[in-house]
Amino acid sequence: MLVKETNFKDLNFIKKGKVRDIYELENSLLLIATDRISAFDFVLPSVIPCKGIVLNMISLFWFEFFKNNVQNHLIYSDIDEFPEIVKKYKDELKGRAVIVKKLKPLPFEIIVRGYITGSGWKSYKKNREISGIKLPDGLKESEKFPEPIFTPTTKADEGHDMPVSIDDMKAVLGNEITEKIKEKAIEIYNKAADYAEKKGIIIADTKFEFAVHEGELILIDEVLTPDSSRFWPLKEYEPGKTQNSYDKQFVRNYLLNSSWDRKSVPPPLPDDIIEKTSSLYKEIYHLLTGKKIDC
Ligand SMILES: Nc1ncnc2c1ncn2[C@@H]1O[C@H](COP(=O)(O)OP(=O)(O)OP(=O)(O)O)[C@@H](O)[C@H]1O
Ligand SMILES: [Mg+2]
Repeated sequence: MLVKETNFKDLNFIKKGKVRDIYELENSLLLIATDRISAFDFVLPSVIPCKGIVLNMISLFWFEFFKNNVQNHLIYSDIDEFPEIVKKYKDELKGRAVIVKKLKPLPFEIIVRGYITGSGWKSYKKNREISGIKLPDGLKESEKFPEPIFTPTTKADEGHDMPVSIDDMKAVLGNEITEKIKEKAIEIYNKAADYAEKKGIIIADTKFEFAVHEGELILIDEVLTPDSSRFWPLKEYEPGKTQNSYDKQFVRNYLLNSSWDRKSVPPPLPDDIIEKTSSLYKEIYHLLTGKKIDC
């Protein structure tokens, strides 16, 4: 079932993000990944069949994959275990919803970069630095770093997230927990990137979110999805230029070649672009997990 947005009147709605609808249950949250898609910071009027299910299933795959590396926020991922009040929306929620511990997200986006691209590439071109980390001369666009780098940003409610140095983070959270977050984030990025590369996907960079609960670090939100990471097809990888993102290449190219000014409301996507994008999401899931998605 295609889900653009939910409207569950008897549940306590708390937030509509670009992609997720969130409701509050007693001490937990119901996180629903819809089929909305964003590009160039706009939510598009079209929805991509299966996208929300793919995102949710990929996060669940990684939570399981990292279960011995880090704790996570999951309470229920199986809809049959959801409370009755939620279960009655089974048709809409199937495959795309989880019930998680309601935690206080740390006020930083935890970004790990294995390759130089996007805002990191822009910053490097300006001053040979990313988030206060000095880098060698002569790096090419999309080149792999000798070691992944840790480049947190603020987590802004409104507007753009701003890069911060690790020292800025330490000033807010303290040395010990900041070092722990850096170590964990790089550890799980490396583990995932090694795994994904064997499956033909480069994870160029990614954003994690963490919370601290009773002194323990907990991985929350979505994990290593195409929405929170840059996935590149390994077989097309060629340093020295911008790489196509695995998932949204058709959408971005379509919009770039359309008459849309990137300021006004974006146009709907043609059916063939929607179809191809949906197939790419399903293909990423299949490549990563070896499983076919049921949607
Ligand atoms: N266990 C949790 N406890 C509390 N908040 C959480 C938890 N897991 C995720 N969140 C929050 O839920 C939100 C997820 O929603 P969504 O991804 O749609 O929005 P977003 O990333 O904030 O904004 P957008 O996607 O619109 O840029 C994030 O703000 C995230 O910090
Ligand atoms: Mg998000």
